[in-house]
Amino acid sequence: MPEAIEVEHLVKRYGELAAVAGIDFTVRSGTVFSFLGPNGAGKTTTTEILEGLRNRTEGTARVLGLDPWTDATELHRRIGVIPQDFRFFEKITPREAIEYYASLFNTRRDPVELLGRVQLADKAGARFDTLSGGQKQKLGLALALTNDPEICFLDEPTTGLDPTARRAIWEVIRSLKAEGRTVFLTTHYLEEAELLADQVAIINHGRIIAAGTPSEIIAAHGRPERLRFQAAPALADYLRPRVGLPVSAEDGRVDVELARPSDALKVLQAVESSGIPYDNFATARDNLEDVFVRLVGQMDEGTLKTEGAA
Ligand SMILES: Nc1ncnc2c1ncn2[C@@H]1O[C@H](COP(=O)(O)OP(=O)(O)OP(=O)(O)O)[C@@H](O)[C@H]1O
Ligand SMILES: [Mg+2]
Repeated sequence: MPEAIEVEHLVKRYGELAAVAGIDFTVRSGTVFSFLGPNGAGKTTTTEILEGLRNRTEGTARVLGLDPWTDATELHRRIGVIPQDFRFFEKITPREAIEYYASLFNTRRDPVELLGRVQLADKAGARFDTLSGGQKQKLGLALALTNDPEICFLDEPTTGLDPTARRAIWEVIRSLKAEGRTVFLTTHYLEEAELLADQVAIINHGRIIAAGTPSEIIAAHGRPERLRFQAAPALADYLRPRVGLPVSAEDGRVDVELARPSDALKVLQAVESSGIPYDNFATARDNLEDVFVRLVGQMDEGTLKTEGAA
């Protein structure tokens, strides 16, 4: 089975700006791929190139084996898209919107069933301009599913949704994968990527700075596991010369980085013998968001240094 998406040395320039500066990745069929990065990193630009909505400047892109720009007509029959800024005619109702989309694709869909899937059946007859922000987004997702797509491109589908509505969208994404579809998911909610994605790529200033499964990225770029005490900084001063491990104190917490699990015992013994009180202790490990913030931050510091030197 061919890869669902294959991208090699993809470049998109807007005048001087390389919004996408030579990226490579593949997305396996039937998986959830999450594309992450700060504002302006190049996510929507890449997504719209893959959707056949913008042409690339350089490189190759294959989506379902097609060239998204030259084979756009066939591609649009086989993919579903929610744009980042989904809008629709103000007076149309969700039921009419789905009937309209289905007619474009020459197919029949039961609007109420499709709206039920995104928990919007109760608004089937409401005018678009009376829907809440989250309800509009759910309609966008329902429309993206109207043509029974092989790949769903979801550009920030959960932005602005309440926690319950977000979870409802997560369930839809899981069910899309269970049906064998491929999901290309852009999000600023790192927890969402960690929960849903098989593979993740982090893009910054048009370049991919980390890629892999969420746990591979955390293992490669996360800090070592820490033992964390709620305690005064005096505890850090006591431990530092005694445990031979990196110790830091911040926000009423003392963190000790563990080189190996058995270090925990040594640290606990030292804490006991210090006599310094602590409220509780726990192990702490980096999640995808910790890694994202550090990687993007480090890269921006590097950029600043280069600019300062120039
Ligand atoms: N049509 C355009 N003309 C000129 N510059 C553009 C155009 N579209 C996007 N850009 C620039 O390209 C860069 C990448 O934009 P893009 O929309 O891909 O970012 P993004 O990663 O989707 O960001 P966000 O998280 O804010 O949605 C930005 O610097 C943006 O200003
Ligand atoms: Mg975007």
